[in-house]
Amino acid sequence: MLKGKKIAFFVTGGIAVYKAVDLMRELIKKGAEVKVAMTPSAAQFVSPLTFQVLSKHKVHIDTFDEETPEVVNHIHLADWADASMVAPLTANTLAKLAHGLADNFVTSALLATTSPIFTVPAMNGNMYDNEATQLNSQLLRGRGIYVMEPDTGFLAEGYSGKGRFPEKERIVEEFEYFLRKQNTTLPLTGKKVLVTAGGTKERIDPVRYLTNNSSGKMGHAVAEAAWQLGADVTLVTASSLSTRSQIKRVSVESALEMHSAVDRYFNETDVLVMSAAVSDYTPESTSDQKMKKQDQLTLSLKKNPDILKEMGSKKRANQYLVGFAAETEKLEEYAQQKLLNKQADMIVANDVGKKDRGFDSDDNEVIFFTHDHEPKVIQLKKKESIAMDIMHWVADHLEGN
Ligand SMILES: Cc1cc2nc3c(=O)[nH]c(=O)nc-3n(C[C@H](O)[C@H](O)[C@H](O)COP(=O)(O)O)c2cc1C
Repeated sequence: MLKGKKIAFFVTGGIAVYKAVDLMRELIKKGAEVKVAMTPSAAQFVSPLTFQVLSKHKVHIDTFDEETPEVVNHIHLADWADASMVAPLTANTLAKLAHGLADNFVTSALLATTSPIFTVPAMNGNMYDNEATQLNSQLLRGRGIYVMEPDTGFLAEGYSGKGRFPEKERIVEEFEYFLRKQNTTLPLTGKKVLVTAGGTKERIDPVRYLTNNSSGKMGHAVAEAAWQLGADVTLVTASSLSTRSQIKRVSVESALEMHSAVDRYFNETDVLVMSAAVSDYTPESTSDQKMKKQDQLTLSLKKNPDILKEMGSKKRANQYLVGFAAETEKLEEYAQQKLLNKQADMIVANDVGKKDRGFDSDDNEVIFFTHDHEPKVIQLKKKESIAMDIMHWVADHLEGN
């Protein structure tokens, strides 16, 4: 979502400026290009040099420092930005933005930009609660400027209140959500995508279960990619990996629980991506108490429902069904069979016999098998990137898209 995005990053003079350094690095890590402007007060807290070195761009502070005659710097930055972020936003600059002041580089650029503006207020709790600040925040929100809710907690003043600079993970998550809402023409906007993830656990007794090596990374990456492309996403997961708060998460343990969750949502789903490693078998019976040690133990297993096959048989013409095939041999043959037997629209096949890819790894190499196209090989790369390729493929081949 942030990859290749040009972000004007405005820093104003609060104690949280040091946290903004880390936030800016996170944006860059996520692939954004960041240019920084600071108020003179902000430069009292952290040296502009820090931001300059890490962003690899000159930091603007003085509106009249016009070293290049071809451009007016604050207008140039305002026009360059795909999005603007103000972090931290002081009560002072918040008030100036609410009333359209342009008395320094930051406020002038923010008044001039047509890019979406996202702000992270951080201040003393009483300053934040002050009616003036609250009314100013409302004015900004009314104009489509995003004003984050600060965290409540221990403030620099030594007492608790609402005004803390939030954790960078929450800021980035809300920022991505804000950017996604600006773009209503994403390829999966208005589509409902259901994703399964993780290896199911089949209980033997309260402390033991049968499972497999799947970490859920691929499924979680697919859910995130679908979300970034504009879909409404429900993730049925047997994994403990985290999910952004805008993805509806349904945590399950067993194949039976996964089956009933998928069945519940399938009818209203446009795309189902079954990336979970669903156990084929489950114990015939589960002991309520921890089983005692015995000389020999024979476990009797019964078959679990084949979720992919069942959904394939129920599928309507405008629904798109993606299955995964994790094989250790005859990858192509088994994947082609699966495509037909399960009535899927696409099988993403991967070789789980190799150490550097597949289960529990960050990378994967896969082949897309579909009915009307030659198999498409996706070379070894990050699961996030493969997930994007899968969801772009789905968006391109979804009926009515
Ligand atoms: C040590 C110190 C910490 C401050 N922390 C904050 C803060 O967290 N939030 C805030 O709104 N103002 C804070 N201020 C006050 C601002 O720096 C002051 O209002 C200033 O005029 C803001 O200028 P600016 O909005 O142009 O950056 C702090 C001031 C000092 C001296």
